[in-house]
Amino acid sequence: MTHQRRDYAALRRELAGNPHTWLVTGVAGFIGSNLLETLLVLDQNVVGLDNFATGHRHNLEEVQAVVTAEQWARFSFIEGDIRQLDDCRKACDGVEYVLHEAALGSVPRSLEDPIATNASNIDGFLNMLVAARDAKVARFVYAASSSTYGDHPGLPKVEEKIGKPLSPYAVTKLVNELYAEVFARVYGFGSIGLRYFNIFGARQDPEGAYAAVVPKWTSAMIHNEPVFINGDGETSRDFCYIANAVQANLLAATAEHPDAVNQVYNVAVGDRTTLNQLFEAIRSTLAPRFPHLQGFEPVYRDFRAGDVRHSLADIGKARSLLTYEPSHRIRDGLVEAMDWYVNSLAGQDSY
Ligand SMILES: NC(=O)c1ccc[n+]([C@@H]2O[C@H](COP(=O)([O-])OP(=O)(O)OC[C@H]3O[C@@H](n4cnc5c(N)ncnc54)[C@H](O)[C@@H]3O)[C@@H](O)[C@H]2O)c1
Repeated sequence: MTHQRRDYAALRRELAGNPHTWLVTGVAGFIGSNLLETLLVLDQNVVGLDNFATGHRHNLEEVQAVVTAEQWARFSFIEGDIRQLDDCRKACDGVEYVLHEAALGSVPRSLEDPIATNASNIDGFLNMLVAARDAKVARFVYAASSSTYGDHPGLPKVEEKIGKPLSPYAVTKLVNELYAEVFARVYGFGSIGLRYFNIFGARQDPEGAYAAVVPKWTSAMIHNEPVFINGDGETSRDFCYIANAVQANLLAATAEHPDAVNQVYNVAVGDRTTLNQLFEAIRSTLAPRFPHLQGFEPVYRDFRAGDVRHSLADIGKARSLLTYEPSHRIRDGLVEAMDWYVNSLAGQDSY
């Protein structure tokens, strides 16, 4: 049997004429709601599960506003909790592809409350694996994390070389991979883990103590509030626009080649951006609209516990086994997302 590897454009064409049923957990969150949007635009049937721990109803409403009424009717939402096996079973019923995004993100949150992070990210993950296995879904794709590289010094990061976790959050994401591997071994249950590197884009929450750096800084700059850089600003990350992460999910869910399954993949761009460069990229993207950002400077403060110094992905594995090809580099993503930040923050404050 031959397994043709098709690229993302071909996959989108194929899906558009051929609806499948997908489950997106964490559907009211940042990545989940973007997956929902793309799947509905492609006329897919989508079940969504979320308990609104960190996600928002307004994310779902935003998706509703950009799809047709017919497409929206293909979405059914279950308000439920992955810590409850019954909720997971209900959500997996009749589903072909699972995209499991629900978890408590953020390294600092896990340092403050490791028990809560463990409950959703490990107990909840295991519930989802069991429910998906029993429902005989065709593929289980889950959100893994670049935090799994932990203290391994190698750069760029290659999937097979990981170090020790540096935070409770990183432990949970490593355990996800171990469970997925064991489920493949002992139950023949096929899954794919996507080790996201810093994903950013529309609907990523700018609010709260655990907000990610891109929306947090963008919001602060729009409101002319201080932007804090933890450390000297030479800490680097491989910032990856949401469209690339959505692409990786759809390719992973539908990958047919046996070599592609029961693997983990870096999902990133392969570009290294320091925090100082990120600051300047956001500032210069916003400056034409916000004159107060001419000459705007960051405020430097201490390094943050649990943060790794450099993170840069080798994306060769996803390229060769999934035909993943990032469509957006950081600057393209910032430009595309900027309208959303400006519009969604407008009216929240005077600026
Ligand atoms: N955003 C990133 O850069 C990044 C990087 C690495 C990994 N990840 C992982 O990707 C996934 C999605 O992250 P995100 O950035 O969209 O975060 P998010 O907080 O916006 O979305 C997570 C969603 O999961 C839901 N959720 C949490 N606990 C739940 C529970 N017990 N039951 C049901 N729903 C629950 C939340 O309400 C939220 O809607 C997470 O697994 C996260 O760990 C994200």
